Amino acid sequence: MTQDFTQAVELLQAGELVAFPTETVYGLGADAANPQAVARIFAAKGRPADHPLIVHLPGAGYLERWAQDIPAIAWELAEAFWPGPLTLILKRAAEVPDAVTGGQETVGLRMPAHPLALGLLRAFALAGGGQRGRGGLCGIAAPSANRFGRISPTEAAHVQQELGAAVALVLDGGPCQVGIESTIIDLSRGGDQPPRLLRPGHITPEQIYAVTGMRPEWPAAMRGGNVPRVSGSLEAHYAPLTPMRLIATSLLPAVIAGLQKGGRRCALLARTRQALPALPQAQCQLPDDAEAYAHGLYAALRELDQAGNDVIVVEDIPADPAWAAVGDRLRRAACGSSEV
Ligand code: TXA
Ligand code: MG
Repeated sequence: MTQDFTQAVELLQAGELVAFPTETVYGLGADAANPQAVARIFAAKGRPADHPLIVHLPGAGYLERWAQDIPAIAWELAEAFWPGPLTLILKRAAEVPDAVTGGQETVGLRMPAHPLALGLLRAFALAGGGQRGRGGLCGIAAPSANRFGRISPTEAAHVQQELGAAVALVLDGGPCQVGIESTIIDLSRGGDQPPRLLRPGHITPEQIYAVTGMRPEWPAAMRGGNVPRVSGSLEAHYAPLTPMRLIATSLLPAVIAGLQKGGRRCALLARTRQALPALPQAQCQLPDDAEAYAHGLYAALRELDQAGNDVIVVEDIPADPAWAAVGDRLRRAACGSSEV
């Protein structure tokens, strides 16, 4: 993909925000070596300042600039899955600004797979990277480019809707392929400790086990528990403004009919094809396949959220490990909703 990154790099070096596509969702990028630029991310998102950000790198060769005491399995995972939707939490290097880590001793790092993201990261590194005085720290801090707690953007237009004029430039790479945020694996406890899954995603625990021979733990607190400082683990997250309910397939007809009888307008996010006695006011159909469903999920939720109904009814998903990442996002989105 040919693209001139000159303007984007100049903006980053001037401390401005540049949104860009990744294979997961769109990111809201800033020079990760510049605390003032990073502060702008928090202001634009309305995100509490103690929530750490993921630093995006142009390659695994940059890991040592950002992390120390890197265990062997971090290199194995980077080798196997980068560029790709996997974030590694490692012990931070001394140079990493507090603004990025939320004051924690760890830092989140990933090399994204989207050609525009990689092109931007490489051009930024070629131009000398981040803030003068911290030369060589070539990384772009980028959370998902949405307002805090809201649905992540998977298209350039969503970024504009979410953040408007707060972003100096939005690189448009079309719809994101994966559609949900990266898998996060905590390796900061050292190489002999099992990795911890902090956020499920496209890269599964099985894949991590196959590469490292270590089975990631998935702490109960990360499955919908309220753990401060890891914003992806807050209960109310990825949430539409319209209240949302997860309903088993067999109960859909009765629930929709009941809501409508009570005078409530409802939107339906369906996975299987159903003959419903009462038609919802709005409907999106997603494929009954976890990967294809994830790809379309956030755009569908956004569309249904904007359709002006009283409730979004979401057809529940199978209790199969392949659906774990999607299930995590749906439970949090429903959790962020008030009961109707
Ligand atoms: O796919 C993705 O990861 C996207 C794209 C843009 O790369 N980014 C993303 O960033 O989802 P964000 O900020 O929306 O979510 C990052 C998650 C947050 O839950 C944050 O708390 C966690 O990563 N995180 C970042 N650094 C951490 C650290 N040092 N320790 C624990 N969690 C961390
Ligand atoms: Mg986010």
